[in-house]
Amino acid sequence: MTNDPTTDPFSAPFGSLFGDSMTVANLADGSYAYSGAAQAMESFSLHPATHALHYGSTCFEGLKAHRQADGSLAIFRLDDHVERMRQSIGRLRMPVPESDLIRTMIIDAVEANASFTPDAPGSLYIRPTLIGTAPNIGAAAAPSDQAILYVICSPVGDYFAGGVRPLTIYVETKVPRTTPQFGMVKSGANYAMALGPTLDAKRDHGADQVLFAQGDDITETGASNFFMADDDRLVTRHLDESFLHGVTRNSVIQLAADLGYEVEERPITVSELASWNGEVFLSGTAAVIAPVGTVVAGDARVTVGDGQPGANTLKIREALTTLLTGDAPDPYGWRTAVNG
Ligand SMILES: Cc1ncc(COP(=O)(O)O)c(C=O)c1O
Repeated sequence: MTNDPTTDPFSAPFGSLFGDSMTVANLADGSYAYSGAAQAMESFSLHPATHALHYGSTCFEGLKAHRQADGSLAIFRLDDHVERMRQSIGRLRMPVPESDLIRTMIIDAVEANASFTPDAPGSLYIRPTLIGTAPNIGAAAAPSDQAILYVICSPVGDYFAGGVRPLTIYVETKVPRTTPQFGMVKSGANYAMALGPTLDAKRDHGADQVLFAQGDDITETGASNFFMADDDRLVTRHLDESFLHGVTRNSVIQLAADLGYEVEERPITVSELASWNGEVFLSGTAAVIAPVGTVVAGDARVTVGDGQPGANTLKIREALTTLLTGDAPDPYGWRTAVNG
């Protein structure tokens, strides 16, 4: 861990730098107790039988605060991330904190770490986390009745080493990203399940990400949502419980509609992707909008367009990034101003 303010977030790996403060609330007797202020960032001491370490009673969120054009600081779509965190906690069958508690803990953590926020295109990545801490290895079939809810912050540059560059994605049609009942949960177990296929695709196909398309049904990658675009249309998989409902996905759909694109939320097959005569990109808080230059599907290695970021992708990306940084108006109230 480093919180040396002189370390450059643009050259450090994403998520490897941290602010010096965090907020913490402890669950006991069914309710979460928060001291009401940020404290120094420090390690936890956990019992070796901690529930989360054995039975996966843990989930998290990922959102960002951006330095604004006028020098102020704003969190993007705070309430949407708070509600998704509550949904994840509920699906882990753990006591769900009030929205206001998570919201306040995030704002307090950001304000305490505000000085670590790099200028755009960098940002302060915010990681609210819940871990079940009941010291009980007999509780495999019971939720943890003790937990720590905490928020840490990480100054970040670009998610993908090399900045905005066209990615190579490998289409995985057999192995699922996660289980049906956990598709919408932002839990570590999902990422552990996607890791093997992603490493294999990197080794065998030089892929940056795996696009999961079990049974020919394209859903999302291990860490981002999936889009196809051309001059008129924006196409993405319709929502159901099988994948994470990205907040960026929702923002992209709204902004593209405002730009005049016809938005289609519907099933997408691998053959439609392989023959798509347009652009492909991924969306997520960490990756923002990442253009795809190559799709590897079965034996085929398909170059998307001319292999470079497409004009529509860059146009939609620009609409999003100017909104993140306060360079564009905020008609939907997506920015929450905080001190710092
Ligand atoms: C599996 C998965 N899908 C999609 C996303 C994109 O979601 P969001 O735009 O809310 O960051 C993420 C990143 O959080 C993710 O981990």
